[in-house]
Amino acid sequence: MAQRAYIQFILDGKVVKVDDVAPTLTVLEYLREKLGRTGTKEGCAEGDCGACTVVVGESVAGTVSYRAINACIRFLATLDGKEIITVENLQSADGKLHPVQQAMVDHHASQCGFCTPGFVMSLFGLYLNEAAPRREDVVRALSGNLCRCTGYRPIIEAGCRMNDYGDPASWSRAQARDAQHRDALQGVAAVESVALNGGAGYRAPVSIDELACLYAANPQALLLAGGTDVGLWVTKQLRDLPLIIYTGNVAELKSLQEAGNALEIGAAVSLTDAYAAIVARYPMLTELAERFGSPPVRNSGTLGGNVANGSPIGDSMPFMLALGATVKLRRAGVTREMPLEDFYLGYQKKAWQAGEFLEAVRIPLSPAARRFASYKISKRFDQDISALCGAYAFDLDDGRIANARIAYGGMAAVPKRALHTEAALTGQPWSRTSIEAALPALALDYTPLSDMRASAGYRMQVAQNLLLRFFVEHSGNPAPTRMAELEAH
Ligand SMILES: Cc1cc2nc3c(=O)[nH]c(=O)nc-3n(C[C@H](O)[C@H](O)[C@H](O)COP(=O)(O)OP(=O)(O)OC[C@H]3O[C@@H](n4cnc5c(N)ncnc54)[C@H](O)[C@@H]3O)c2cc1C
Ligand code: FES
Ligand code: FES
Repeated sequence: MAQRAYIQFILDGKVVKVDDVAPTLTVLEYLREKLGRTGTKEGCAEGDCGACTVVVGESVAGTVSYRAINACIRFLATLDGKEIITVENLQSADGKLHPVQQAMVDHHASQCGFCTPGFVMSLFGLYLNEAAPRREDVVRALSGNLCRCTGYRPIIEAGCRMNDYGDPASWSRAQARDAQHRDALQGVAAVESVALNGGAGYRAPVSIDELACLYAANPQALLLAGGTDVGLWVTKQLRDLPLIIYTGNVAELKSLQEAGNALEIGAAVSLTDAYAAIVARYPMLTELAERFGSPPVRNSGTLGGNVANGSPIGDSMPFMLALGATVKLRRAGVTREMPLEDFYLGYQKKAWQAGEFLEAVRIPLSPAARRFASYKISKRFDQDISALCGAYAFDLDDGRIANARIAYGGMAAVPKRALHTEAALTGQPWSRTSIEAALPALALDYTPLSDMRASAGYRMQVAQNLLLRFFVEHSGNPAPTRMAELEAH
């Protein structure tokens, strides 16, 4: 198999090849410190503020995809085969501002200006993807960008009016996707494996067999997907990482398909793509999907990374546990599948064998009559980590609860099913009385902790309230959700 000792990407329309790249050098460090491109800012260095937003272009199935990412937590080596667009690229050669920038000026959407390049790049990502964005599209696209001084109204206004300016001289939507661009991206696409630092620091295999071999031979290595967890181990915890094996170029891990009455999502599928497929089958998860991090976090991060990391407050696990999802694991040539609930053994302890990795998650498709929901509770609506997250999947038979699966995050050391509560409900009439009678059983299932996000008492109270909310919303008198209210305005 062909292997390269350098990475290549497109910047300023030219192919750049870099061979002396440290495995954990972030895109932001590269831009600011190596290239002196200081338009891209550093605020938090943890994916929270959006000051470092850049747009990444990629050849996907014969077309070109452009997505905003956080440069501060993304390792440069993972942009092998892609295009990096920074705020410096937006102005045309004759000095004319891009419509996104001109709209920001015209709507007085910048004061100190520190956040502005990040807002511009998030809006630019939206501009390339949406010819006629609605106000709510603008608000969602900006949900990962913080501004301390201007106030969001003028910035949102700029986003709503950025299409009033006609096609720009550079980076019009048509030009971004023309054949020349597509061919250039295909020309650098990551079809060969990469081994940096003599193969000791960073490896990027391109096939699942190669990945399986490599990881079985180097079980001490760290698997890297989108880096939205791992990036912070470097930028915030200053950890030294062992050999990194990047999964993002492994074609088989990018697959997303329906198979055997389940949605099978490869471990390297981005959260953006994974949740789009999930929400298409489970529209009730729309709010959860939109409140997972921010668009740049979801564009880099993967569903596989969320499951493999297995944080007790991760947002994807409760609904997957409620739906009976399974994980497909592989070690060398051997594949096995297990229920997600058997995968989590204790705090940060999983059922891995050495050198075993996540190949895919399988989310069963539900019968149409199933009552199902998942609710996230956090201090902010957007871009916040859950205090707790509950999920409920109930099948009724003749007015009785035939089957109840309930799971919570934020209530125990792992995302966990509420087996006592499920047992208390099974066979009972589908009524408020049954639900209220079962609420105390949650105290048998969980002993939550108090931490900076919530007290133990709050968590238990809210866990009970959410189960009650699930009943209210699915008993013929649905209460409007906040998302429905937002959509109405
Ligand atoms: C600003 C911000 C906001 C966030 N908001 C949320 C949120 O709202 N909800 C939430 O749940 N999480 C949130 N996260 C956490 C993070 O985005 C998710 O956990 C994400 O799904 C991780 O995926 P990743 O691809 O980035 O994983 P990575 O960081 O690449 O990896 C995470 C872990 O998974 C392991 N891993 C990755 N792929 C595999 C594989 N194929 N096999 C075995 N192990 C593997 C890695 O070794 C590592 O231990 C947020 C993070 C940030 C920075
Ligand atoms: S610097 Fe704050 S998100 Fe990157
Ligand atoms: S203009 Fe100052 S932080 Fe936004």
